[in-house]
Amino acid sequence: MKKTIYIIEHLEPELFEWCLIEYEHISETIGKENLWFTNIKPSDAKKLEKFGKVFLESVKNMKLSNACVLDPECDKTLTSSETNSFDYLIFGGILGDYPPRKRTQEELTPFIKNAEIRNIGKEQMSTDNAVYTVKQIENGKKLQDLKFKNGISIEINEFESVELPYLYNIRDKKPFMSAKLIRYLKKKKSF
Ligand SMILES: C[S@@+](CC[C@H](N)C(=O)[O-])C[C@H]1O[C@@H](n2cnc3c(N)ncnc32)[C@H](O)[C@@H]1O
Repeated sequence: MKKTIYIIEHLEPELFEWCLIEYEHISETIGKENLWFTNIKPSDAKKLEKFGKVFLESVKNMKLSNACVLDPECDKTLTSSETNSFDYLIFGGILGDYPPRKRTQEELTPFIKNAEIRNIGKEQMSTDNAVYTVKQIENGKKLQDLKFKNGISIEINEFESVELPYLYNIRDKKPFMSAKLIRYLKKKKSF
């Protein structure tokens, strides 16, 4: 059976704890055998080896063929049949920012020569939600049939909450989000 590799090009200056939690969630979602992390600093490689294959090299230098970059700024939407025909699906390992700064378009897409470029809608998803969405499309679902919620609120305690103004998949009636990330947000806020 053909194996499609999901590639996360890490583009943040550090491997922040939030990124690491999202990357672990991605590995749980698609399996570590289908996941590559690229552009990783030698000092961070060990932390990621248990979640996927780690490359210090940037995907920008890998000259991969039959690849697709997922970029919210592109005009064409990904379909199931083409997802199955790609060998590599490339995502920006970028934390969400609001309003979006179009970093995928600036820091990733132009540097992957000969790749196709697709969106999965125009709204910004976290990298783990973008991967989960593409996995559903790879499994034959249409983007318009998936359920989403735009903007979620995580209750920290009786009085406070954290607003996350991004698009979240709804799975089992709940936003698709790592339980570890919720614990991290609660802990961070309580200090
Ligand atoms: C949090 S997003 C980065 C958003 C960043 N603010 C930007 O403007 O590019 C992380 C990654 O998920 C993927 N992604 C998120 N939403 C997407 C969408 N609607 N269409 C295509 N890719 C998306 C992209 O690969 C993106 O680099």
